[in-house]
Amino acid sequence: MTVDDVLRGDCLSILPALPENSVDLAFADPPFNIGYEYDVYEDRKSRETYLDWTERWLKQVRRLLKPHASFYVAIGDEYAAELKVRLDALGLTLRNWIVWHYTFGVSCKQKFNRSHAHIFYYVADPSNYTFNAGAVRVPSARQTTYADRRANPSGKLPDDTWVLRPQEDGRFFGPGEDTWYFSRVCGTFKERTGHPCQMPEAVLERIVRASSNPGDLVLDPFAGSGTTLAVAKRLGRRFLGVELSADYTEHIRERLRAIRAEPSAVLLPAVGERGV
Ligand SMILES: C[S@@+](CC[C@H](N)C(=O)[O-])C[C@H]1O[C@@H](n2cnc3c(N)ncnc32)[C@H](O)[C@@H]1O
Repeated sequence: MTVDDVLRGDCLSILPALPENSVDLAFADPPFNIGYEYDVYEDRKSRETYLDWTERWLKQVRRLLKPHASFYVAIGDEYAAELKVRLDALGLTLRNWIVWHYTFGVSCKQKFNRSHAHIFYYVADPSNYTFNAGAVRVPSARQTTYADRRANPSGKLPDDTWVLRPQEDGRFFGPGEDTWYFSRVCGTFKERTGHPCQMPEAVLERIVRASSNPGDLVLDPFAGSGTTLAVAKRLGRRFLGVELSADYTEHIRERLRAIRAEPSAVLLPAVGERGV
């Protein structure tokens, strides 16, 4: 099986050819069916067509998951409920319904501005799955706000509303940078690749660190700009992406060529903490 690469093509054709029980962590950020401008994919299907397609790729990803794997899916308001029902039907267990809060979204005229996306976090086996709590802890309010002596000095686990604040990740949002730290990846960001729906590495970093170990295989069936693959490579994981667009695939390959695994990431314990 090819790994550490991105395969160009339709994930519905490519995933069935991969061996079952081979993936430790899958992250999927599919088109949301809201009319986004991709170069090849047409993001405005009938509701029925979109949901039928969704069901088919979800089943394919499910088939690839190892018994202790985790599966994260990002989705917008329009189809969040429908996706949740379909994920439950696959026999997976919901660990968190994460809300990723951002700003710099589209400005609305006749309704409130949207400032979030949903990320469903599922596991195949709720009694045995990788959850590296120590790799994603953040400072707690007891530490930062209340000067409470009872505070755990190593912080706390992040809440399930993800506001990626500078104090949660100094590497991305150092105090000396004029970073728009609540934002999606904007045109001004160094990490921006030009893909219309690029996710911030900070979101994927938390997922990859928490739910996989060095050497694990991370799958992204909708690779886009390659954020998942870039983070997986940097953190010493094996990775496999699928992307429909030839142009995006070429850009992903370029992005990946520039990335080196962080030696410290590779040195994390090989066996993660198991969570319930
Ligand atoms: C929302 S974007 C993913 C963005 C990605 N998470 C990132 O951070 O860059 C969805 C991507 O799925 C791709 N796509 C659409 N249909 C696909 C299919 N059937 N198989 C593989 N990729 C597909 C689109 O070309 C688009 O690049």
